[in-house]
Amino acid sequence: QMTRHYKFNIRLHNVTRLCHTKSIVTVNGRFPGPKIVAREGDRVIVKVVNHAQYNVSLHWHGIRQLQSGWADGPAYITQCPIQTGQSYIYNFTIIGQRGTLFWHAHISWLRSTLYGPIIILPKHNVPYPFAKPYKEVPMIFGEWWNTDTEAVISQALQTGAGPNVSDAYTINGLPGPLYNCSTKDAFKLRVKPGKTYLLRLINAALNDELFFSIANHTLTVVEADAIYVKPFDTNILLITPGQTTNVLLKTKPNLPNATFLMAARPYATGLGTFDNTTTAGLLKYKQPNSSLSSNINLNLPLLRPTLPALNDTSFAANFSSKLRSLANAQFPATVPQSIDRRFFFTVGLGSNPCPKNQTCQGPNGTKFTASINNVSFIQPTTAILQAHYFGQSNGVYTTNFPNYPLIPFNYTGTPPNNTGVTNGTKVEVLPFNTSVELVMQGTSILGAESHPFHLHGYNFYVVGQGFGNYDPNKDPSNFNLIDPVERNTAGVPSGGWIAIRFRADNPGAWFMHCHFDVHMSWGLKMAWIVLDGKLPNQKLLPPPSDLPKC
Ligand code: C2O
Repeated sequence: QMTRHYKFNIRLHNVTRLCHTKSIVTVNGRFPGPKIVAREGDRVIVKVVNHAQYNVSLHWHGIRQLQSGWADGPAYITQCPIQTGQSYIYNFTIIGQRGTLFWHAHISWLRSTLYGPIIILPKHNVPYPFAKPYKEVPMIFGEWWNTDTEAVISQALQTGAGPNVSDAYTINGLPGPLYNCSTKDAFKLRVKPGKTYLLRLINAALNDELFFSIANHTLTVVEADAIYVKPFDTNILLITPGQTTNVLLKTKPNLPNATFLMAARPYATGLGTFDNTTTAGLLKYKQPNSSLSSNINLNLPLLRPTLPALNDTSFAANFSSKLRSLANAQFPATVPQSIDRRFFFTVGLGSNPCPKNQTCQGPNGTKFTASINNVSFIQPTTAILQAHYFGQSNGVYTTNFPNYPLIPFNYTGTPPNNTGVTNGTKVEVLPFNTSVELVMQGTSILGAESHPFHLHGYNFYVVGQGFGNYDPNKDPSNFNLIDPVERNTAGVPSGGWIAIRFRADNPGAWFMHCHFDVHMSWGLKMAWIVLDGKLPNQKLLPPPSDLPKC
């Protein structure tokens, strides 16, 4: 076991993309941010010093944070933000996880520029459950706005409308050659023939699920959200914001000088506007026995991959159903077989009446909102975890989160008739070790749209998914309780549902939300409070002394 020390200075830095230069919030002046590399079992200590004129907090997305909930990072859930001139040390141990995750800012829309990979190698002398790759390459997808993203979201929240869409998608911060004024800003992966590369794919985009493919190459999926999966081959994969996927890329035996495009573009089903552009990088074969010149001649015919249609929901559902846990002796699946608490949450968009003396530019002059069981989450002004730990929940949160929709309706019908969204900071309290089954039902109140749901502090098993309304009498008989995929972010299908299971064995306050930042800004989020167990290793440890104050 090692301790890995990182120092993250949050500061502004000028970055130019698509011929637009803007000052963005960065870690150490880098965009995307630095990568964190550790081994399973290591302690990671990141000292964050905030030199920017923005409140900041960082989240280590997918890290379980066993007993270390104070290091999780979502602003006003586990900590108050780190204010200008202040610092905070995130200190956590990586237990039982190996693979790819990522870190990102978890306040407002700052994660549009504050993000980077987390690479967790297996313990020393523990091999991968697949052949050792020749090289490992992180590829992190993001979104780029020519304008300031904080202005984009605050304008949307004030007018009640949807925010302006991004100007480009990026691979490792680079939009690539299919955009104007971006030919040189392309991610280039130089490969040797006949080798196996491990691509660590991360979707850090704010609001879009992405299809990804490499022309003329097959990818073997081996891991999702830092959990190994049963390997399978695919030419195209789908990755939602918050998800990570490791794939093996086997290069062709003999292709001197060949160049192929790697491309990603959105999967989208909603009614709203979105960025319908394609980011591309170059897969460039090295010439045998000579080093490659850095000039890539874009006049050469580049092979482009074919990606599914924008709204290809059947591809999306089919792809996610292929993911299965390894579920072997070394990496067993521990799916809860008996359930203590069952929950049914509707998740979706809606609109609220426009507040008096305001003009709203949402649908029909209303204001966009989003809710779970008709509760639109209001961010508190102090951290929920602090309020819980010190027994001061009064005025911070209430424990009356509804376990099921109070007025059931035809969730996926047309026209849906659901109304009456209320606002609140409501949490669901779980005793230690509760085994939970949660069905998340998408609604089509403003048109069906998929929602990549992320749970902090846990992985969960996706035991079932389907389209239409979930049927509690019929659907559970088809649940996979043997080898369902285990992950921290899963898409609630457009016009459908997913069923997940997890065991509440990690005390703390854990955020759960749609990983589309725009939906999150509209309230598509809630929190669980998991109580301490009796044993010392079942208790949340006390807060660090430098925990930021609100
Ligand atoms: Cu990656 Cu709460 O987020």
